[in-house]
Amino acid sequence: MGAARPTMPALLFAAIVGWAVPATAQPTRQAEGCVACHLETGDDRLVKPAKAFAGDIHAAKGFGCVACHGGDAKQQGMEAMDRAQGYVGKPDRQQVVQVCGRCHADARFMKQYNPSLRVDQVIEYATSVHGRRLRELNDPKVAVCTSCHPAHSIKPPSDPTSSVHPLRVVDTCGTCHADAKYMTGYRIPTDQLSKYKTSVHWKTMSAKSDLSAPTCNKCHGNHGAAPPGVSWVGTVCGQCHTVMAELFTKSPHAKVFAAMGVPGCVTCHESHAIQEAGDEMLGLRDKAVCASCHSASDKAGKSAAEMRALIDSLRNESDKARAILRQAEHAGMDVSQAQFDLNEAKGALVKARAAVHAFAVDAVKKETDAGLGVSAKAHARGVRALRELQFRRAGLVVFLVIIVALIAALVLKIRQLERRQQSRTGG
Ligand code: HEC
Ligand code: HEC
Ligand code: HEC
Ligand code: HEC
Ligand code: HEC
Ligand code: HEC
Ligand code: HEC
Ligand code: HEC
Ligand code: HEC
Repeated sequence: MGAARPTMPALLFAAIVGWAVPATAQPTRQAEGCVACHLETGDDRLVKPAKAFAGDIHAAKGFGCVACHGGDAKQQGMEAMDRAQGYVGKPDRQQVVQVCGRCHADARFMKQYNPSLRVDQVIEYATSVHGRRLRELNDPKVAVCTSCHPAHSIKPPSDPTSSVHPLRVVDTCGTCHADAKYMTGYRIPTDQLSKYKTSVHWKTMSAKSDLSAPTCNKCHGNHGAAPPGVSWVGTVCGQCHTVMAELFTKSPHAKVFAAMGVPGCVTCHESHAIQEAGDEMLGLRDKAVCASCHSASDKAGKSAAEMRALIDSLRNESDKARAILRQAEHAGMDVSQAQFDLNEAKGALVKARAAVHAFAVDAVKKETDAGLGVSAKAHARGVRALRELQFRRAGLVVFLVIIVALIAALVLKIRQLERRQQSRTGG
């Protein structure tokens, strides 16, 4: 293949940030003198990259050291690292972005390898707080490409040993963001990782191996890490919690929260330490989140209490129905249909909890009414089953009494016969 020419994104990026994009990215398979000599030097700094690179995605795709460092791999001596041969040496932090971007921002080039791979990493990175601080302040502490994808052991996100695999990326971000000493001088907290590790999202990820829950980059973007804006927060959570996000957007809170300058979901749920939501969050008592802005004397406060009462009553009624059906079941009655029907009340409870996000009593009431109807029916079936059981038991007792009486009569009759026979043979 020929030298890859810089394409629009690359040029655009160069124009945006003023980094020159070299016109030559020549990824060709070659027997490398670089590795052989580096392994021989015995110098850890030179040996390590040569060893590690064997497991790197770029090695797997047939690239060698020169793909990033330039130079002439055919040379066996030190002249391999001739600046005249395009050798760039060890790229500094600004250069790293340029080195990686040379290929990864070139859609035409990357398409030959993987048409579905995104080619917006460099452009997104340039918009991130990391990229902006690097460019504008030459901040030596922000993340560059190789902070998250360690040079020489770069692996695709799907590889479980990759630094950006969903189960590992949190620790990759945490190497800086959870290190208070490293982050001194910046006015942001360093508790995101420790808080996140207590969250329902991390529990879902780690304990249940459900990778659909979010890690740092699902909420902050893979490459566009920025402080989330107020309107942005609902959008981020809404990627997954679509029902809540839609209801919230249409709710009275959406506008007032924006006007108050408070974010949507995280005002009530936190951002990193998000916990399982429970009914105790609703209303004005104890742990209720509404109580921080509403009280029993205002209309919204009353609505909050009413929503809670509706949900409590549905939960209690469906629990009661479930209990009586279980009692009947244990006594041997067939109530499986009623038990099945009662699942609808469970569904209604889930819907009611989601409907809370409309922040209107009627929306919640619609769901709880449906659920209460189902619960009442199931409960009635339980009551009937237990009554039937009583009736059957009473019947059984009568039946038993008759049987016992019959047996007694029979025994008496046999004895009578025996006695008669005895008196005949004896006399
Ligand atoms: C004959 C042995 C030899 C060969 C061949 C060789 N290197 Fe080196 N390389 C060295 C030594 C020795 C150093 C350390 C020199 C120094 O610190 O200036 C070094 C240093 C480096 C560094 C670190 C430079 C820095 O600024 O810290 C890089 C990157 C590198 N080599 C890449 C390559 C590449 C790419 C190739 C193949 C095109 C290559 N080397 C071929 C011996 C070799
Ligand atoms: C995908 C790009 C890429 C490839 C391919 C690559 N390197 Fe590097 N290498 C880098 C970057 C970027 C750095 C700068 C350090 C950093 O950002 O972590 C670096 C740094 C180095 C250093 C300096 C290490 C130090 O700690 O000072 C050496 C030596 C080196 N590379 C050798 C090699 C050798 C040998 C190969 C081939 C086996 C190779 N590299 C392949 C990107 C690459
Ligand atoms: C010479 C061109 C080139 C350079 C320079 C380069 N890459 Fe790559 N990179 C590729 C190609 C080609 C692939 C394989 C894409 C595929 O087949 O999925 C790849 C794969 C990757 C992947 C895995 C993508 C995936 O999901 O499969 C990551 C991550 C990556 N590169 C990061 C980097 C970083 C970081 C740098 C700079 C240190 C860099 N690359 C430098 C060409 C390059
Ligand atoms: C702050 C950390 C971070 C930085 C800095 C970073 N990346 Fe990534 N990168 C990630 C994460 C996390 C993923 C995994 C995304 C996923 O799960 O799909 C990723 C994925 C990738 C992929 C795979 C395709 C994709 O976009 O999902 C490539 C290629 C890549 N990065 C290249 C780069 C390049 C080039 C740079 C520098 C311009 C860079 N990355 C900077 C964290 C980072
Ligand atoms: C090499 C260290 C390093 C790594 C790794 C790193 N960051 Fe950063 N990050 C920083 C520094 C330094 C800042 C600048 C702090 C500031 O904004 O003042 C920053 C800023 C941020 C900001 C903006 C904070 C704000 O409100 O200004 C976000 C969001 C962020 N990083 C997210 C991430 C995520 C997500 C990852 C992992 C995918 C990550 N970072 C990996 C060092 C790092
Ligand atoms: C569920 C989405 C979500 C996940 C997962 C997430 N964040 Fe955040 N992050 C947010 C939101 C929302 C904010 C804004 C904070 C606010 O307004 O309360 C934020 C703020 C930040 C900030 C700015 C400083 C601060 O604390 O306000 C940094 C830095 C940051 N997150 C890093 C991380 C890191 C590192 C991880 C992974 C360990 C992570 N985040 C995981 C949503 C998330
Ligand atoms: C004004 C406070 C408030 C806001 C804003 C809010 N929620 Fe909630 N959320 C709650 C309360 C209260 C509950 C618990 C309802 C219950 O269990 O009775 C809850 C429950 C949940 C649940 C669990 C539902 C279930 O089935 O148990 C999820 C998921 C959720 N919210 C996501 C979101 C998302 C996403 C947003 C933003 C679009 C959001 N919330 C905004 C108060 C809020
Ligand atoms: C990438 C998808 C995704 C994103 C983004 C996301 N979540 Fe989640 N969330 C999940 C998954 C998966 C679960 C665990 C399974 C479940 O209960 O639905 C969960 C659970 C929850 C729960 C507990 C639900 C319960 O049943 O008690 C709450 C509350 C929650 N998320 C709120 C949020 C908020 C607030 C945000 C934004 C800051 C957010 N989530 C962003 C996927 C996501
Ligand atoms: C960050 C403060 C804040 C929190 C927390 C909050 N609200 Fe609100 N809410 C407001 C404001 C401000 C208004 C608009 C003014 C008003 O009606 O009191 C409002 C309006 C409402 C309304 C509309 C009232 C009407 O007049 O129709 C309802 C209903 C409501 N909130 C319910 C809730 C519930 C339920 C919760 C807890 C899950 C909650 N709010 C949590 C600030 C908040």
